[in-house]
Amino acid sequence: MDVVQEIRKFVEDECRKPTSKYGFEPFPYHFVQVVEYVGQLADRLGADKEVLSIAAWLHDIGSIIYGRENHHITGGETADKKLKELNYPLEKTELVKKCILNHRGSQDNERKSLEEKILADADAMSNFDNISGIFKAAFVYENKNQDEAQESVRKKLENKWSKLHFDDSRRIIKPKYEAVMLLLK
Ligand SMILES: [Fe+2]
Repeated sequence: MDVVQEIRKFVEDECRKPTSKYGFEPFPYHFVQVVEYVGQLADRLGADKEVLSIAAWLHDIGSIIYGRENHHITGGETADKKLKELNYPLEKTELVKKCILNHRGSQDNERKSLEEKILADADAMSNFDNISGIFKAAFVYENKNQDEAQESVRKKLENKWSKLHFDDSRRIIKPKYEAVMLLLK
């Protein structure tokens, strides 16, 4: 198995554990899409696809193992440990860690590298493939009623759209953005 597959397997196993903070759903409904989008963007923008695939699989691992708070930090630490076990080159490990540390839209950390920006975009784009998941969060975790939920989902998606770094990201996601804005107006 190559390192990307090893990491995918590690993340899948963690998501399957009964201790996973969000169950198994993040694996098929979030991680898979983020990996797909970083691949598309890496090809178009000439970024390091291997680093990005690893970072995409691992970017929310902290959230799965330890919970959402500070998951960019716990995720970076988990990535560091795992990639050292696999003897992954140190320089690339550092870039993976930077991507994970700076992926959160809510954190105002400065993203410097192309790879960091791509992971942040892919993470935002994946929301447009999981509208039901965002509604689930609004109803189940935030106890919102239908009006409030619809409004908060629309705002969240508008916010994700407005923070995209690249025209390529906007081009890929535009049909879904327009469709969802039409439906949630
Ligand atoms: Fe994510």
